[in-house]
Amino acid sequence: MLLRNVGSIVLLQYATHALGVITSTPEALNPQLTNTIDDKGGPILYYNGSGDVPPYNETSPIPAPFTPLKPTKQTEDFFFNEILAILNNNASSNCTKCMSSTRIMHEAAISQPVSVITDLLIRACNLTHFHVYAATCTAEFSGIGGTGPYWAQLYAKMNGSTGDYQAWCYYNFDTCSVPPTVEIDESLYFSPKPPQASIVPKPSGETINVLHLSDWHLDPRYDIGSEANCSQYLCCRPYSTNNKLHTGVSNASVPASRFGYLYCDSPPDLALSSFTSMPQFFNISDISFAIFTGDIVSHDNDDQLSRAYVEYEENVTYAVFKAKMGNVPIYPTLGNHDSLPEAYNTPNNISPKTAGQSNIFSWNYDLLSSLWQKDGWITASEANYASLHYGAYAHTTAQGLRIISINTDFWYVSNIFNYFNFTNPDQSGILGFLISELEACEAKGQRAWIIGHVLSGYDGSQGLPNPTALFYSIVRRFSPATIAGVFFGHTHEDQIQIFYDFNSTSMNGTLRNTNAIDHNKPLTMGFIGPSITPLTGNNAGYQLYQVDSKTFEIMGIKTYFANVSESLTWTSPVWKFEYDARSTYNVNGTWPKTSPLNATFWNDVTYSMLSNQSIVETYNFLETKSSIVTKNCSTKACGAQKVCYIRSGSGGQGSACPYKNGPF
Ligand SMILES: *[C@@H]1O[C@H](CO)[C@@H](O)[C@H](O)[C@H]1NC(C)=O
Ligand SMILES: *[C@@H]1O[C@H](CO)[C@@H](O)[C@H](O)[C@H]1NC(C)=O
Ligand SMILES: *[C@@H]1O[C@H](CO)[C@@H](O)[C@H](O)[C@H]1NC(C)=O
Ligand SMILES: *[C@@H]1O[C@H](CO)[C@@H](O)[C@H](O)[C@H]1NC(C)=O
Ligand SMILES: *[C@@H]1O[C@H](CO)[C@@H](O)[C@H](O)[C@H]1NC(C)=O
Ligand SMILES: *[C@@H]1O[C@H](CO)[C@@H](O)[C@H](O)[C@H]1NC(C)=O
Ligand SMILES: *[C@@H]1O[C@H](CO)[C@@H](O)[C@H](O)[C@H]1NC(C)=O
Ligand SMILES: *[C@@H]1O[C@H](CO)[C@@H](O)[C@H](O)[C@H]1NC(C)=O
Ligand SMILES: *[C@@H]1O[C@H](CO)[C@@H](O)[C@H](O)[C@H]1NC(C)=O
Ligand SMILES: *[C@@H]1O[C@H](CO)[C@@H](O)[C@H](O)[C@H]1NC(C)=O
Ligand SMILES: *[C@@H]1O[C@H](CO)[C@@H](O)[C@H](O)[C@H]1NC(C)=O
Ligand SMILES: *[C@@H]1O[C@H](CO)[C@@H](O)[C@H](O)[C@H]1NC(C)=O
Repeated sequence: MLLRNVGSIVLLQYATHALGVITSTPEALNPQLTNTIDDKGGPILYYNGSGDVPPYNETSPIPAPFTPLKPTKQTEDFFFNEILAILNNNASSNCTKCMSSTRIMHEAAISQPVSVITDLLIRACNLTHFHVYAATCTAEFSGIGGTGPYWAQLYAKMNGSTGDYQAWCYYNFDTCSVPPTVEIDESLYFSPKPPQASIVPKPSGETINVLHLSDWHLDPRYDIGSEANCSQYLCCRPYSTNNKLHTGVSNASVPASRFGYLYCDSPPDLALSSFTSMPQFFNISDISFAIFTGDIVSHDNDDQLSRAYVEYEENVTYAVFKAKMGNVPIYPTLGNHDSLPEAYNTPNNISPKTAGQSNIFSWNYDLLSSLWQKDGWITASEANYASLHYGAYAHTTAQGLRIISINTDFWYVSNIFNYFNFTNPDQSGILGFLISELEACEAKGQRAWIIGHVLSGYDGSQGLPNPTALFYSIVRRFSPATIAGVFFGHTHEDQIQIFYDFNSTSMNGTLRNTNAIDHNKPLTMGFIGPSITPLTGNNAGYQLYQVDSKTFEIMGIKTYFANVSESLTWTSPVWKFEYDARSTYNVNGTWPKTSPLNATFWNDVTYSMLSNQSIVETYNFLETKSSIVTKNCSTKACGAQKVCYIRSGSGGQGSACPYKNGPF
């Protein structure tokens, strides 16, 4: 989930809303509070940063310096004056100013020590107030969790001939126009699509149950009784205030319930209750396996996180998952909040590296892969691959499905390391790994699911156009015969994304325009799982899929949710069945019971949405898991935009959707 980049879905709504009747007050403030929801065998989870929750005053390893030079005030001033001259040139467009000053930062980064770059960033930030999420420019770029040393590394690698400056300025500074999507020479990556790759396997008639969990975002610093309807990004913290109502921890307008709220990450008891609620709906032992599409850590800015804190969250979260799911294997994928700094991942071929490691973020990939192996979900050799390849792995389940888990931060707009060699759709090699896995599956006639965190398409503000263009080509090449489904998280919402075949105009010589698609040829589905965290105005939710035991197509989806706007009335979290996808969306009553909820089905649903606004409104309400602060989508224009997003499986396609900013 992101807040930072421009052009994203409006995430935070401080709309006034009806609050459920308060029948109980939150527990008195007590620094020693721990979970009350049963967690037999699992770790104790703390509130308000007490217990063994580590402090956040220590940082991640920072990249090695480039140059042995000593910083001097004169050279720093020289570069700063160059930037000032660019910014003060009233004849230049903002795009030119941004690109030219980035070029100066590149010159500085290849010649000066990191401290000079960090200082230049702070001085420019002090002057223009750009890009600050921490309380001060200094906190943003230097000191604990400061991102300056990483930016220095990026600047040093940038090169205008691959469109890096334009992309950086468009996605991070809202200047310049959107960079064009590269056309893909598919022959560099895989063989042409053979006719048998278009054959849809026949359903077996038998199903298994698969659980989809996403975006857990446990907040160990959640403070019961603090302001839950606050003006900051993350509410339910001791320092949260509502600036309009002049309220805070001592007179909260909505005191944070022990069980969570719309604008807060998951407190321990809400997080744990997602598991303890399951037996009222199904037996956990009847689940064949689960997928977890990433994001463990709370939504703090980098200066409020530390390596120890991130490790702690990863450790306790997987310990809870293991304790709760027992012998049911869980196949996880790494999310943008499972990294520090948030979303930062470097390709293995970037240099310089920390001595002896393939990657400066190896500490994280090593930890995650070891936890997944320790819990018995992946093998030692798969864990070894994951530790060396950004958490990616492929594993065959007991039922014979190949699960391919990739690190989607390599297409995420907030991973700054995606802004060098921008025109290369696979700088990290992660898509090459995906292709080799799919080729092996195709050769064996084995079906595969792809799991990742950041969705490839939607509104164009999440997945960068070039890597998601290659991803789209890959999905089209191996669907529908090999790929049985694609699964993401990240938006916190319950959404779908349809992948189509290309249309007859898509080829230009040997190059593929991946935006030229045929909406009458749906191929495969992307399922975006709802979040456990309510943050950004949602309820908490999870889904149970009924999956064909041979083809691994989705036959049914049941969604369960907890309406956190009522949390102050609870004595323990109340989870309910929300909806059944087949009965909700089979609006004509014509889709056979024996047919999967595949891309053909969902594409028919999009046509129904275009002609019947009530189906748009249903989808819109279910997206937030039936939240009381769901935004209205009652106009045709809003419906058309939703359909466009559903039909956009890549960043380039999503950027072209109409009505970017409403109004609806
Ligand atoms: C939570 O921590 C903050 C800061 O340490 C403190 O001011 C507040 O009283 C604490 N709340 C509880 C419930 O202890
Ligand atoms: C971080 O804070 C803890 C106390 O909360 C202290 O013991 C530790 O020394 C601090 N670490 C650094 C690097 O400042
Ligand atoms: C640019 O415009 C600003 C405000 O309009 C003015 O103060 C400044 O002197 C101008 N700069 C130049 C170099 O003309
Ligand atoms: C250029 O940037 C300045 C400062 O951020 C802003 O006030 C102005 O509106 C921008 N101009 C355009 C055309 O976007
Ligand atoms: C940036 O501004 C802060 C607060 O005004 C100040 O303390 C700091 O020294 C400034 N940093 C630089 C490098 O100018
Ligand atoms: C930038 O990229 C071009 C084309 O790949 C290359 O020829 C040039 O050497 C690069 N420049 C730098 C400074 O790396
Ligand atoms: C997390 O678990 C790893 C592996 O068991 C351990 O080495 C590390 O110290 C733990 N970190 C924290 C902060 O608990
Ligand atoms: C940039 O990408 C191209 C492929 O598009 C690749 O050949 C080249 O090695 C990459 N350059 C760097 C510096 O990684
Ligand atoms: C076809 O590709 C060439 C580059 O190989 C490009 O210049 C041209 O604009 C493309 N044509 C279309 C219609 O996209
Ligand atoms: C193919 O896709 C392009 C790009 O979306 C679109 O402009 C064109 O109308 C489509 N052509 C056909 C024949 O569907
Ligand atoms: C979806 O299922 C129906 C019925 O089994 C089948 O006719 C259709 O080809 C399938 N579509 C895809 C994209 O797999
Ligand atoms: C329902 O029927 C309409 C009209 O034939 C069609 O456009 C739409 O795709 C169908 N919807 C579903 C969900 O089958």
